[in-house]
Amino acid sequence: MSATGEKPVLPSAPDKPDRGNSRSIESGRGGLLIASCRAGSYLGARFAERCRHLAADACSCDTVDYLGDIDFRFSDSETCVRLEIDAGGKDVFVCQALHTPESQRCVDQNLMSFLIAVRAFREWGARRIIAVLPYLAYARQDNPTRLKREPTTVKLIADLLLESGIDGLITIHPHSKVHGFFGKIPVFSLESLPIFIEEFSRFRARSDVIAVAPDPGAAKFVAEFGRNLEISSAIASKYRPRREEAVVHEIIGDFEGKRTAIILDDMISTGGTIHALVKKLVEERKIEEIYFGVTHNLCISTALEKLIELHSRYNLRGVVTTDSIPQSGSFIGLPFANIRSLSEFMGEIIYKVHYDIPVMEV
Ligand code: R5P
Repeated sequence: MSATGEKPVLPSAPDKPDRGNSRSIESGRGGLLIASCRAGSYLGARFAERCRHLAADACSCDTVDYLGDIDFRFSDSETCVRLEIDAGGKDVFVCQALHTPESQRCVDQNLMSFLIAVRAFREWGARRIIAVLPYLAYARQDNPTRLKREPTTVKLIADLLLESGIDGLITIHPHSKVHGFFGKIPVFSLESLPIFIEEFSRFRARSDVIAVAPDPGAAKFVAEFGRNLEISSAIASKYRPRREEAVVHEIIGDFEGKRTAIILDDMISTGGTIHALVKKLVEERKIEEIYFGVTHNLCISTALEKLIELHSRYNLRGVVTTDSIPQSGSFIGLPFANIRSLSEFMGEIIYKVHYDIPVMEV
């Protein structure tokens, strides 16, 4: 598994020369602590388990502690964080799911819990604090619509995270290139590509299969996927006539002799994009079967309905996603859905960052 985008500046161990251009996050030697807010506990506990295995394999005598559910709400709805153990001198990886479809908590509340948690660790002496946010909410708000006078909200989120006290960020397949918003701290922006390459390896080198990007934003990702599997690729262009509506007006690519399409995207929200694209592929490009790989599934009910319709009427054969967001029961129950866990892979990244092992080699 490798990181994508600009190469993050890797943490430097105290006995190694600093690589120069970072606010260096020196290796913590007070032990490793994985913590999670309530919404992210399903992730944090598994990451800790993975790190313990890796530490045991390496015969490390370093401890791997886990602290879950560190936040709660007072009856007036304020959030409070309490640390039941001393995090002084530790390398703390704080995990959170910012979007939690089946809970009462909204993105903003999960975010607030996270900021308060980071601040608690900062004030109580953690040596370095790494944010582990597999799904980086607000990353879509990176390119304000000028006519509507929108702010660059992802920049605000980055500012808040930095101000709370993070020393680094681990995330997976963010919607936009977020590195630039986080100043000099390292951003480990990981790829989900290897998951999809493995998942769709049965299509390798098949001349009747084509990989399709739903929009230019996904083009590089899809082209890399196509190159890896030795299949050709195509790009759709889409626009949004209204908020949360998607129209695919053109697909650029050679569909001669193609019968199977694999669509890859960073996220599915309302399902409008995948719905418009699958219909166009079937109706205009005569594609007979379609697969969809998507890193983040927001589990919104309209998307679920659209996926069910595409499965029954348009030969959508399979959907592959990850557990970057806790998946809803109704999505898990879909017979054509497959959810790949990020635990092993992200646990390994945490372990490598803690021990200053280059993440690019994961
Ligand atoms: C957009 O640029 C993204 O890459 C996704 O295609 C989009 O967010 C999906 O949203 P929806 O499912 O609401 O069409």
